[in-house]
Amino acid sequence: MAEMSELKLEEFLRLNAPEDLSGLTTAIAKSSLMVWESIPFKSGLLSEVNPSGETQKAIDVYSNDVFVEALTGTGFAAEVASEEMAEPAEAKGSVSVAMDPLDGSSNVETNNPIGSIFGFYSKKLPTSGRDLVGALYVTYGGMMTLTFSFGKGVHRFVAVREGSAISFELLGVNLMLPAKPEVYGFGGKRKDWIPAVAQFWHTLEEKGLRNRYCGTFVGDYNQVLARGGIFSYPALVAKPGGKLRVLYESAPMAFINEQAGGYASDGRRNVLDIVPSVLAERSPLYIGSSSLVREIEAKITSDS
Ligand code: AHG
Ligand code: MN
Ligand code: MN
Repeated sequence: MAEMSELKLEEFLRLNAPEDLSGLTTAIAKSSLMVWESIPFKSGLLSEVNPSGETQKAIDVYSNDVFVEALTGTGFAAEVASEEMAEPAEAKGSVSVAMDPLDGSSNVETNNPIGSIFGFYSKKLPTSGRDLVGALYVTYGGMMTLTFSFGKGVHRFVAVREGSAISFELLGVNLMLPAKPEVYGFGGKRKDWIPAVAQFWHTLEEKGLRNRYCGTFVGDYNQVLARGGIFSYPALVAKPGGKLRVLYESAPMAFINEQAGGYASDGRRNVLDIVPSVLAERSPLYIGSSSLVREIEAKITSDS
């Protein structure tokens, strides 16, 4: 393999991905640069709400439109479903793409980490994570990175400026969760968590883990992948379904996490086994190092 840092995304995809996933990934890479550069100028709130009933921000709609145009334009997408659209955009390809075009949009003004999440499904949506043939997330934080898997390991590329051009260079291949879990991050308010989650959360510092939470799923998961540990947006007493959407957020990240040696649960079963009945279906999420996720899954199951 060429010197790691010189291997460009296009070359890596040509050698390691089927043509359709390669084309879709290249389209996302190019479009994510446009989203990244627009972030400072599109933090305003709009009057519309998305199918989950959340008020949209200019960056939610802009990133959605940029990615829909790029993905449908490849000829490889059969449809593009998005957390920002009630119905998928139809196209003529073979891969059903589900996306969260901008994850963490409430964190734009504070310049906290934000990202984008994509799931590449082999069947018409909605369908289970078992039909994923690939998944990818973008981080727009300190480094602009693409982390993805097509079922043969997790790989990462980083945006690098060369004069006036920006290319994506290889940062790491076959990323794996470290054996020793180090960080944890739980969303929602502690007073709202179901009791099993609150009890488990209190054991984590005794286990030697450190609290690392930034309020964006992509940012919070990205550090779990690097340090080992657990991220959760848990079941809440008043919202047993939690907050994150299966098709657009949890299943694609669970696919990547499983490729990295981890496990993701909704509190009862593997997230990848959930068959959403509607596009925007939510589920609680516990994701990261298998030992910790299986421990909280067992605690929740025994509590019910
Ligand atoms: P999105 O901006 O796509 O709606 O996702 C935000 C999600 C997720 O990124 C994060 O884990 C969670 O919202 C944080 O929720 P709270 O702001 O309710 O803590
Ligand atoms: Mn979003
Ligand atoms: Mn999101």
